[in-house]
Amino acid sequence: DAGKSGYDHYMLKEINEQPLALRQCLRERVSELERTITVDELADLERRGPVQFVACGTSYHAALYGARLLREQGIPAQCFLASEYDARSIPITDETLVVGVTQSGETADTMSALRGANQAGATTLALTNVVGSSAARECNYVMYIRAGPEIGVAATKTFVSQQAALAMLSGVLSETHSSELIRRLRRLPDQLQQVLDESAVREIASTYVDADAYFFIGRGYNAPVALEGALKMKEITYKHAEGFAAGELKHGPLALVTEETPVFALITGPNAAKTLGNVKEVEARGAPVIAVTDQPELVEQYATHVLEVPAAGRRLTPILANVQLQLLSYWVANELGRSIDKPRNLAKSVTVE
Ligand code: G6P
Repeated sequence: DAGKSGYDHYMLKEINEQPLALRQCLRERVSELERTITVDELADLERRGPVQFVACGTSYHAALYGARLLREQGIPAQCFLASEYDARSIPITDETLVVGVTQSGETADTMSALRGANQAGATTLALTNVVGSSAARECNYVMYIRAGPEIGVAATKTFVSQQAALAMLSGVLSETHSSELIRRLRRLPDQLQQVLDESAVREIASTYVDADAYFFIGRGYNAPVALEGALKMKEITYKHAEGFAAGELKHGPLALVTEETPVFALITGPNAAKTLGNVKEVEARGAPVIAVTDQPELVEQYATHVLEVPAAGRRLTPILANVQLQLLSYWVANELGRSIDKPRNLAKSVTVE
C-alpha cells in the first residue's frame, strides 16, 4: 500500500500522476525559446518513406492518434493491430519506418510484428516506457515516453505520454516545428492538472453506474479516444461498452441506443458541429448524452450533462478529454467494488501471441 501514496488504487494514483508524466516526456525536447522539437534518441533518424504503426490494446489507440497526426503533416501513415500485421503481405521497402508503440516493450504480438518488419528490411522504432525492454533492443531506434512505472493493469499515464510522444514524433518526422504545437504542448501539463482538479465526473459515474451499456463517440482525433474510453470501461468495470467514430453510429450501433445506455460524446475542436448532429440522433432515442467538450455553450442545449475540458487545439484537446473518461471508468468500477488494479482475466503485459 505504501506505493499508492494514499490513493485507494494505483490506477487513481497514476491518473493523478499524468501532469508529471507529461512534463517528464516533454523535458528538454520541446523548447518554446528555440521553437524546436528535439528528440535526442532520434537525432540521426531520416525518414524518407511511409510510416506503419504496430501496437495492441491501449497502445493501438495511441497509434491511431499518432498516425493521424503524421498524415496531417503530409506523411503517409498506416496503423495495424500488431496481431494482424504480416510484414510479408504488405509493401515494405528499406524506406518504410515501422513504429512499435508498446508501453512495456514486451508484448508478444508487437514484438513479432517488429521482428517481421526488421526481416523485411524496414527501419524500426520502438516507442516505449521501459528502458532496455525487448522492443527497445529489437528496433533500430527507440524513443522513450518517460511516464515512470505503471502498476495498474489498465494503462492510463502511459497512454497520455504516448500521445505526447507521438505529437513530438510528428514534428520530428515532418521537420516542421509548429510554434503553435510547441506552445500548446508546453501548456498541456497545467491544463491536465486543471481537468483533475475540476472534474465533475464522479457524480456522473454514480448516476449511471447501473446502465445497461456505455457508448463513446468522437470524430477525428477524438475517434481513438472514444475507442479508448470504451476499452477502459470494459477492462475495469466488466460492463458492456463500445466506442465508435461518431459518423458510424447511424450505420448500425444506433440500434443499440436506448434510455438505459448513456452516450459519452467527445465534442472538441473544429468537428464539434458535426458530432453535435450525431448527438441529436442519440437524444431523439431518449439516451442520456454526456458531452465532453471545450465548447460548453455549443452543446449545453443538447446534452444531459456537460464535462468541460480546457481548449488545447484540435490535436491536443482530445488528450484532455480522455482524462475525463479515465476518471469515469475509475469511479464506476470503484462504486461496483471491482478489482481495479488487477481486473479479472487481464495481464499488464501479454507475452503470448
Ligand atoms: C495488455 C494490457 C493493456 C495494454 C496492452 C498492450 O493487454 O492489459 O493495458 O494496452 O497489453 O501493452 P503494451 O505494453 O504493448 O503497450
